[in-house]
Amino acid sequence: MSLTTVHTVADLRAAVADWRAKGLRIALVPTMGALHDGHVSLTKLAREHADRVIVSIFVNPTQFGPNEDFSAYPRTLPTDQKLLDEAGVELCFAPSVDEMYPDGFATKVAVDGAMTNVLCGAARPGHFDGVAQVVTKLLLQAMPDCAIFGQKDYQQLMVIRRFSADLNIPVKIIGAKIQREADGLAMSSRNRYLTTSERAIAPTLNRVLGSITAEAVKGTELGPLLAKGREDILSAGFDPIDYLEVRDAQTLELISDKVEKPARIFVAARLGKARLIDNHAINPDVSDA
Ligand code: PAF
Repeated sequence: MSLTTVHTVADLRAAVADWRAKGLRIALVPTMGALHDGHVSLTKLAREHADRVIVSIFVNPTQFGPNEDFSAYPRTLPTDQKLLDEAGVELCFAPSVDEMYPDGFATKVAVDGAMTNVLCGAARPGHFDGVAQVVTKLLLQAMPDCAIFGQKDYQQLMVIRRFSADLNIPVKIIGAKIQREADGLAMSSRNRYLTTSERAIAPTLNRVLGSITAEAVKGTELGPLLAKGREDILSAGFDPIDYLEVRDAQTLELISDKVEKPARIFVAARLGKARLIDNHAINPDVSDA
């Protein structure tokens, strides 16, 4: 079955209704396009859970701040479609901004509290409201059995789990392991902003997270580990560091001394035009619990 692309909610729903009538299980992989092997791995995981896989491609304006890269964000639909076709995906949903936010649109979805004010929420005010708004819409438009999100955007995954539980959206939210390049750099659409010399520096983030994690699991005090990590990241050429923090893997509460429960170390730092993020599990990985 080759890839079909639809651009309207009506056509998406018609395809889904047809599959439902045949009793097929459906997975949705929401993306903003500029697809890479990390996304392909999400579609493979989707396939393990479903008979039909939908990938949505929509660069959502409401999750970008006024000075962020919304207009510069890479839009590569024909290449994306080819990649999805090769990956065996059945349906690509690529709506326009007007289809998603028609005239008169006035509804917000916001997850309150500690989970959205920290990490990327602190550095990107309003970002998670935009993510919650668009993902709520995508889940309700497609009504799949499950939806797959990468753990690279770990905070996003936790926010999505929160509002889908709170709003009783009957879709299983599945987290997928971070895919890395051979040198450890977490795959990201934003990696294409890196120059050759920046690309050589970029794996520093993964290396620093790895060495802090190796010490933190032994119960070493975090303060000195994080200070050394910051130094290594800055001296590699990143500037500024938005955050380098260890947090509870589920509540995202800050952990500042020793790690005694499932936790996650998070980093966001700028390298040239790119703002890169990454994270590692410390102690058992409970992200899919
Ligand atoms: O992770 C992303 O690509 C986006 O935030 C998402 C989940 C597709 C919502 O626009």
